[in-house]
Amino acid sequence: MWGGRFSERPDAIMEEINASIDVDRHLYAQDIAASKAHAAMLAAQGIISAEDANGIGQGLDTVLSEIRKGTFDFKRSLEDIHMNVESRLAELIGPAAGRLHTARSRNDQVATDFRLYVRDAIDEFDAALAAFQRALVKRAIEHAGTVMPGFTHLQTAQPVTFGHHLLAYVEMAARDRGRFADARRRLNESPLGAAALAGTSFPIDREATAEALGFERPMANSLDAVSDRDFVLETLSAAAITAVHLSRFAEEIVVWTSPLVGLVRLSDKFTTGSSIMPQKRNPDAAELVRAKTGRVIGALTALLIVMKGLPLAYQKDMQEDKEGAIEAFAALSLAIRAMTGMVEDLVPDEARMKLAAGDGYATATDLADWLVRTLNMPFRDAHHVTGRIVARAAKDGVALHQLSLQAMQEIEPRITAEALRVLSVEASVQSRTSFGGTAPDNVASQAQAWAKRLESERK
Ligand code: ARG
Repeated sequence: MWGGRFSERPDAIMEEINASIDVDRHLYAQDIAASKAHAAMLAAQGIISAEDANGIGQGLDTVLSEIRKGTFDFKRSLEDIHMNVESRLAELIGPAAGRLHTARSRNDQVATDFRLYVRDAIDEFDAALAAFQRALVKRAIEHAGTVMPGFTHLQTAQPVTFGHHLLAYVEMAARDRGRFADARRRLNESPLGAAALAGTSFPIDREATAEALGFERPMANSLDAVSDRDFVLETLSAAAITAVHLSRFAEEIVVWTSPLVGLVRLSDKFTTGSSIMPQKRNPDAAELVRAKTGRVIGALTALLIVMKGLPLAYQKDMQEDKEGAIEAFAALSLAIRAMTGMVEDLVPDEARMKLAAGDGYATATDLADWLVRTLNMPFRDAHHVTGRIVARAAKDGVALHQLSLQAMQEIEPRITAEALRVLSVEASVQSRTSFGGTAPDNVASQAQAWAKRLESERK
């Protein structure tokens, strides 16, 4: 394709390091769509004949169906997807194929193809995250009043509801979707027609190709158009944050399903057995979601390093933008779907959750709050008094709600029987009615509001 100036074949190692077809073959649909838009525009502008444009369009459709059927012969000697497609087009339709590359370059071509590919990935993430949210909300409605221990420092802190915990991930996924949508808005401009770097002398219509490919507008600067990879970096950043969220949730599932903790059980569908220990039920899917985060963060880091220090405009380094990103997107897509499956599958052990919620004097703050509210004690003093009561319960080896009123009154004589009532885990969660708090009524109405929102965006 570029052999005019060359008399020798490239070295085998040159071919191996230069070829990108093993990776950019994933972009075949976008490459063909962009070529069809380009050819139609060239004809509309009178740059090529309508007959040639027709032939090119039909030939490209044939190439597309060959690739889809798996009969297309990808050749490394043809370097990349652009030249593989064009070469096959020439076999199919003859010399007219050579007119397709008028007024464009592989530089604007690859930038266009990859923008389209990343845009498709963003749309897939958005749909997958919406499904993840719907699964979470469904379980949150079911468990709006299911009491579980809330943790800080992974120590039992205060009782919360399981529904509240699940809704925290709904909020995270909403921000993730917002970041993807934001990246998509900036991504959605067309580089096509920037040509190699300087634009072209042909009277092309960049608005027309932009519109045909669903872009908002053509990119305004041809140098920027061929050398910008912000759209990949932004999408990978959003992907990395999403992966971190999923990983945190996956870690919780690993901890919760451990027999030492036993707050949640996963069915056979999302666990595996051990080849040697017959009793084992391993949360492999959650562990792999946790691990796949590495690929996503790795791809972001790698591309930031590739781009750092690259002068304008296109540099071959940029060919390295695809492999990591494509792998990372596949990993994230699978991770979202796996977490969605686990959310649907998991069964909380409600009795154990409730018991654990009261462990470790988890309602101590409720007692301190009672002292503040009822005896008008400054919170710091109430904290101290409660601390002494907890110490007494620990010494006697009983839970806070099992300590006698008399024992409490030895420490603070003004405590009445009414104080004992705030010590149950149910009373504790029910009292947390502040906006965003864990009270079952709050959780139920938040979950219902989310269900409505997620339902209405489907229409
Ligand atoms: N395979 C190349 C890439 O992915 C396409 C652009 C090649 N451009 C060039 N001037 N060699 O970046």
